[in-house]
Amino acid sequence: MRTIRPLLLCLLLATVIASLTAAAPPKARVSAGRHGAVAADHLLASHAGVAILQAGGNALDAAIATAFALGVVNPASSGLGGGGMLVYWSAAQRRAYALDFRETAPAAISPASFVRDGKPDTRLSQEGGLAVAVPAEVAGLVEASRRLGRLPFARLVTPAAALARRGFLVGPELAGDLEEEGARVRQWPALASLYMPGGRALAEGRWFRNPELAATLESIGADQGRDFYRGRLARRIVEAVRSAGGVMTEADLAGYRPVWRQPLRGVHRGCELFTMPPPSSGGAILLEMLHCLELLPVPWGEPDSSRTLHYLAEVEKHAFADRARYFGDPAFVRVPLAMLLSPAHARRIVSLIDAAQASAPEACVHELPADGGTTHVSTVDADGNACALTSTINTGFGSLLAVPGTGMVLNDEMDDFAIAPGVANAFGLVAYEANAPAPGKRPLSSMTPTIAVRDGLPVLVVGSSGGPRIITGTLRVLTCVLDGGLDVGAAIDAARVHHQWQPDLLRLDESVPAADVDRLRRMGHHLETSSTYNAVQAIVAGPDGLRAASDPRKSGQAAAY
Ligand code: DON
Repeated sequence: MRTIRPLLLCLLLATVIASLTAAAPPKARVSAGRHGAVAADHLLASHAGVAILQAGGNALDAAIATAFALGVVNPASSGLGGGGMLVYWSAAQRRAYALDFRETAPAAISPASFVRDGKPDTRLSQEGGLAVAVPAEVAGLVEASRRLGRLPFARLVTPAAALARRGFLVGPELAGDLEEEGARVRQWPALASLYMPGGRALAEGRWFRNPELAATLESIGADQGRDFYRGRLARRIVEAVRSAGGVMTEADLAGYRPVWRQPLRGVHRGCELFTMPPPSSGGAILLEMLHCLELLPVPWGEPDSSRTLHYLAEVEKHAFADRARYFGDPAFVRVPLAMLLSPAHARRIVSLIDAAQASAPEACVHELPADGGTTHVSTVDADGNACALTSTINTGFGSLLAVPGTGMVLNDEMDDFAIAPGVANAFGLVAYEANAPAPGKRPLSSMTPTIAVRDGLPVLVVGSSGGPRIITGTLRVLTCVLDGGLDVGAAIDAARVHHQWQPDLLRLDESVPAADVDRLRRMGHHLETSSTYNAVQAIVAGPDGLRAASDPRKSGQAAAY
């Protein structure tokens, strides 16, 4: 999945608005098994997770090993320099856990940090040192393993370290990211020396080793991140960030802590849903949208019909308007979850939805990069434990800053803040005071790791990458499975439907039938048939075993045994 850059976007907008004619994505391949399954953005990473399950690890161990491996094989999407969020279901305890390992703003950050010549400048929150929030991936995965894992932490790092040391064939995703981001990557020498050796982007099919990253992973496996947060690695990270204009200090790294949070719980179609609370907006607005959809006459049996797509688009619009207004780090702002998740709120929204006419929010067009700097992993083990883990460095290759000598790419998660009220971020998302940058604050996220449980056992483990499309992609697959009764592969293949309130654009996959596209246009939707997608990874568990599917839109492939 590529990021549409502003230049490319201008060209696109100048020439076409509707009906881009990119090919429809390939169909998802389902991996079936009885004992365990992993759905990830890369087959090698899914295999890393299955190997951990076969070695006696639980679903959490598998998710951790898969996340580390993804940082090696798809380094534009996630890695040691980023952060994430996970939801875990313990079958034995009949209890869900949520871990927030979201990056935080360095202590010296303020909204003024992103203003140049009196104007907010999103380049500062998207590239270079100021863009980098305190990396949280390592602390989070160590903490998750300590509390809920079964195998020793060092064992979970082994598959990723082996991939980095022995090498692997460059896949379509990494090659594609480099092709499209080449001009930007070239401007950042440490990153370019890793992925554009000799000035040439790594091509698909080339054998690639990353010994520096292997050494960094091995050291993290050995000392559980001590050096990363308080030692030589910490000093290297700080030096890389500060020499690129950032303000992060060693104290910021030493002070970073992941937070266990109460998962949000909802009920839908007889399942309990466990999902991520703030500082993600994803779980809350997923439940908000489901509450609305339950009150609407959606023809779930016709997933791509204009009526289904219209209702999805309308509830998405309303929920994203709430996201912009109310959400931020709960340590800094009170998010009115009780109100947002109340039946009265759903009834209010539904009363504003017309069955045949799109409602009209303020229109304002921003570019929407596709799936770049995030990845999602879903796992289930033989005991019925399940893990949904989303990991991100934000946009493709994050801040474009690599830490010399470590193989590590640093995030640009500061762009998930509203650097000024109403100023759109890389995903065209607007937010206000609740999500303003402040020292130690976590930027608002869309990550939506979600587990549906029935009778104590997981029936669906799902989540996605793709910025705001994380939420709508997760909603789409979840409703296709739980409301529409589709198989996991068909649910992943169903056309994505994305509306984030602003801009007033309904983004649809090309696979929606032309007659339905026409009907939606006549209802007043401003359509963009988009060639960029988000990537959902899902596992459905039933009496016949496990069926796992990764999103072919990002060349993902699941594995099961
Ligand atoms: O936390 C968030 O919402 C963003 N950092 C996610 C960015 C993303 O998904 C990029 N694309 N894959």
